[in-house]
Amino acid sequence: MPAPHADGDPMDDKPDSAPLRQLHEMRERSLQGGGPERIEQQHARGRLTARERLALLLDAGSFQELGALATHNVSDFGLEQQRYPGDGIVTGFGKISGRRVAVFAHDFTVLGGSFSEVQSRKICRIQDLALESGIPLIGLNDSGGARIQEGVRSLAAYGEVFVRNVMASGVIPQISLILGPCAGGAVYSPALTDFVVMAGGSTMFLTGPEVVRSVTGEQISAQDLGGAAVHMGRSGVAHLSAADDASALELVKQLLGYLPQNNSEDPPPITPYDPAERMDAALDCIVPETESQAYDMRDVLGHVFDRASVLELQPDYAPNALVAFARLDGFPVGVVANQPAHLAGALDIDASDKIARFIRCCDAYNIPVVSFVDCPGFLPGSEQESRGVIRHGAKIIYAYCEATVPKISIVTRRAMGGAYVAMGSKQMRTDLAFAWPTAQIAVMGAEPAVHVLYRKEVREAPDPEARVAELMSAYREKFFNPYRAADLGQVDEVIEPRETRPRLIRALELLRTKVQQSPPKKHGLPPN
Ligand code: HXC
Repeated sequence: MPAPHADGDPMDDKPDSAPLRQLHEMRERSLQGGGPERIEQQHARGRLTARERLALLLDAGSFQELGALATHNVSDFGLEQQRYPGDGIVTGFGKISGRRVAVFAHDFTVLGGSFSEVQSRKICRIQDLALESGIPLIGLNDSGGARIQEGVRSLAAYGEVFVRNVMASGVIPQISLILGPCAGGAVYSPALTDFVVMAGGSTMFLTGPEVVRSVTGEQISAQDLGGAAVHMGRSGVAHLSAADDASALELVKQLLGYLPQNNSEDPPPITPYDPAERMDAALDCIVPETESQAYDMRDVLGHVFDRASVLELQPDYAPNALVAFARLDGFPVGVVANQPAHLAGALDIDASDKIARFIRCCDAYNIPVVSFVDCPGFLPGSEQESRGVIRHGAKIIYAYCEATVPKISIVTRRAMGGAYVAMGSKQMRTDLAFAWPTAQIAVMGAEPAVHVLYRKEVREAPDPEARVAELMSAYREKFFNPYRAADLGQVDEVIEPRETRPRLIRALELLRTKVQQSPPKKHGLPPN
């Protein structure tokens, strides 16, 4: 071994043998991606390279690369001139906050990150190792989709990745970051994973603007077609978004903190930092006295859960429902809530999809579900009925019934009809049901109930309006409180709103060792 150079350059520690020099050269080339010019272009777009992203995501010095020297063997369409070690994807293992993860990162500087047979082989390798080792898989996507020059090879290669996404579903957490254009097949692997996180300026679409224009004549920008605003607000494809690459990567680290390494573990608790017995008097007057007045359910969550622990998913999609991860006394929980500040908290098709999927996610990863109910029922009307609110709404029922994790419900105000049965009732395997004194548990609201029950009587009354008011008041008197449900044992306890936090913490402590079985089956057939 040669003596170190006088100035102590650590590179000079390298043994001076031909095989090692060759390896170092090849490694050096693989670090260059598509070359300095392409890297500059990537930076000019406001985006980081694959390796810069991994450096931000992973604990310093923890990355162990696999497949850095793999290249394609295709010579069609001039590809033989474009061989880059690694072939446009960086794959391997590392740690986030000391916990092991598997990662892959598309390198857009190499052939637009386009998906090749070699890329597939590299991704599949770490998918297999991640599944066998029981550790989360995080994909950093930035790809023009199937590499056009490879033809059917790149299409078949997608199939290899998809089947592994599906086999790993519900076993290890799979998180997809979208950090640039993701087109064609590049959107389906993320869509099969548990969470999609989009960075500002990124896009996801099956067919790009050019193809859309040539096929349909529609002129549309990439952002309007599949930017974060579209997928966070309307399509429901994305769960979280952030301004840029760095903040999207930070969000993923935060998200991972609520998840176990795999489905055989519980999610990791952190050291409690907010008193378990804390009672917040503000909760006692959060529900307005006027029945029709809305309030923001986010305020309720903010007062109940560990300080600053609520991470809301899909905040702009179906805002009439809230789904979030949070912590209680340091333990991760999933939160499902109606949002009275939007559509009075009524459930519709999108809210049903959002809630059902989130519950199944919590159930898969052993995360208890806490539900806050204030819902006048399913949104009525021909638009919802004809688009299938029946089958979508049924997904919520299916998901709650199927879930065997601890489930606790708190009715804060309205729990009408299907919303009560689905979200709050003990019959659907809710373990503990609480209600605030402001709870109203009934089949439907006072006005429709009176019109259904007393139509004839009202029509024949000397003053129909006064009679309706009288009957509505009697209906409210009877049902608009939690005491009938408590009397029948449907509500376990009527609690003061301020007690909610300590009650939930004690309830979760009780349920931590809950074991519940379901009949063995190949799989169920949830409505879709
Ligand atoms: C090969 C590709 C490519 C691809 C991009 N490139 N996509 N090469 N196959 N799929 C190359 C470009 O030719 C270019 O090379 C370089 O990557 C950078 O691309 P640009 O177009 O210059 O970048 P930008 O303007 O940012 O646009 C990015 C883009 C666009 C939106 C992704 O390239 C695009 O629309 N690509 C095609 C997207 C698409 O339709 N994919 C679907 C494939 S079909 P040079 O050398 O010129 O710089 C598919 C089906 C799978 O995926 C189905 C499985 C179920």
